This record gives sequence, C-alpha cells and structure tokens, in this order.
Amino acid sequence: MEEKKTIFSGIQPSGGLTLGNYIGALRNWALLQNEYHSYYCVVNLHAVTVRQEPAALRRRTRETAALLMACGIDPNVSTLFIQSHVPEHAELTWALSCNTYMGELMRMTQFKDKSARHSDNINAGLFTYPVLMAADILLYMTDLVPIGADQKQHLELTRDIAQRFNGVYGDVFTVPEPLISKTGGRVMSLQEPERKMSKSDPEDTFISLVDDPDTIRRKIKRAVTDSESEIRFDPENKPGVSNLLNIISALTGESTDDICADMAGQGYGTLKTRVADVVIEALAPMQAEYKRLIGDKEYLMKVQSESAEKAAYLAQKTLRKVQKKIGFAARL
Ligand code: TRP
Repeated sequence: MEEKKTIFSGIQPSGGLTLGNYIGALRNWALLQNEYHSYYCVVNLHAVTVRQEPAALRRRTRETAALLMACGIDPNVSTLFIQSHVPEHAELTWALSCNTYMGELMRMTQFKDKSARHSDNINAGLFTYPVLMAADILLYMTDLVPIGADQKQHLELTRDIAQRFNGVYGDVFTVPEPLISKTGGRVMSLQEPERKMSKSDPEDTFISLVDDPDTIRRKIKRAVTDSESEIRFDPENKPGVSNLLNIISALTGESTDDICADMAGQGYGTLKTRVADVVIEALAPMQAEYKRLIGDKEYLMKVQSESAEKAAYLAQKTLRKVQKKIGFAARL
C-alpha cells in the first residue's frame, strides 16, 4: 500500500471567517484529513504583518482554532495547531530568507497590493511573508498544499526556494504541489459580486460563519442582483444572481441548471429566501458545535498544547537536518 501523503494549509486569525472560507476551504480540509496526513495551522505570525490589537488577536486565534474544529477538523485525526506555538517556523524562515532573492519577493502581487493598502506600515515582515509561508510548508515535508488561487504565486515561490536549497545542500525538502479545490468555486461579495467575499470588506458584503439566522437573512435580502427578473446562471452579465445560485449549488450539491429549472418563473425575492434557508441550515450544526467548543476553554487549551507538541516533533527533525546541512555548529 502506498504511504499517505502529507498536506499542510494555513489560515489567518484576522477577523471572522466567512461563508467563502467555509465553501472554498474549510469544509474541504475536513474531507481531506481522512485521505492525508494533515497539518492545519492558525498563522498568527503572518497576522502581525499588519497592525493587530493584541487582545483581539489572542481571542481570534483561539476562536479560529475552535471554528476549524467546528467545521469538522478533528484534532485526533489532523494536527491542528497555532503557528507561534512551534518556534521552528520562525527559525526556518531565517535559513530560507538567506536563500530567497529580494527580486523574487518584490514580484509578489500580494505584497504589492498590501503595501498599497497599508502604506503607513510597509514593514520587513510584510515583505518576507512568503518566506514564512514557505517555512510553514517545508517543515512538514508537505506533498500537497490546499490553497486558493490568490496563494498560487506564494506556492510557486516555495517550490523555487525548496529546489534551490536542495540544489545547494543536497535533498532536504519535499517540493510541494498546490491542491486547488474543484468544488464550490469562489463565493463573491454580496454587494460587489465582481469581487471575492472577504472578511476585510464592510459587514454587509459577507456572511460570517458565526452570523445568527436573522443577520444571514437580512444580509442576503440586501444582496445586489440586477434590473432584470429572470433567475439565470450567467456570471458575466448577472454576477449577483449567479453568486446566489452558486452558493445554493455549493451547499446542496444541486447543479445551477437544476436550481434555475426548479425556480423558473419565480422572482429574486423567492431566490433570496431559498439562499438564506440553505445557508442557515448548512451552518447550524457547525455553529452549535462552535458554541459548545468555545465555552470549553480547558479542552481547547489541551488540544492546542498536544497539537503543538505533535507538530514540533516533525518540525524539529526537519530544522535539525537543515542546520546540519548549512553548517551550523552542533551543540550537545
Ligand atoms: N498566506 C495564506 C493566506 O493568507 C495563509 C498561509 C500561511 C498558508 N501559511 C500557509 C496557506 C501555508 C497554505 C500553506 O491565505
């Protein structure tokens, strides 16, 4: 029998997670854990590349870990840990930084975007962010990295760094491949359906995973549609309506064609009621589990500490190997 492959993915604890995160990533992570050795990391080191309020960052880190568990990531199956609990991530970043070129980092489109948006705080961490991400991935001999399209360039860079390092020092790292999910597609903003749904946009543009049913109904009722009245899947000309159809499709498994056929002759109001019903029903069990978990601080702390230990085992092994290859003096 073939050995199970390893997957690694990370998620930032910056703000509430959205329905887009759930459909595009989190529910897939829960499915993947049975097929792969899975490492899922709450990346609080990445989060501080933009200014964070310390108390809020601490709270959100805990909440994000609990939400991942509520989405079905089982800490007995996956290693679900907090990045700062495994200091090897920061340490490997240094070694990789010395094997990454300024020119490569300067080409990263996310750096260009973020430095435009945070022009008052273009710090060195924001610039070397992709090297930290490479360290995350390479520490665990990762074969596959589930990511969205926006992170593909960072993964390409990770592969370049790994190959370069292996070329200079001999085979150390596994060169990872991206795992782009086929199902679900992208969930778009409820107000500007040409843009991806994002937790950094205004409240009424996204559904948070912890929104209550009334809030979900209200946000969907206000979602932008168009001036026609036909329910038709046409992302180019009817991005708002198509986004709503996509959400139903992603959560029920029905094709958008079937949904349209089913709703022929009905108005947008009925469509929105249907979307709200589907979203509320899909999120309810996860939300109930989240409520239970977030109240059980002791259990969460125990999971965090055991998972960090599990992650550190492999991370330390990889880092020792790297240090030896580079020529860092051994210590007793
Ligand atoms: N940069 C990723 C994002 O913002 C998060 C991330 C950090 C990550 N380290 C990772 C994703 C390692 C995959 C693998 O979405």
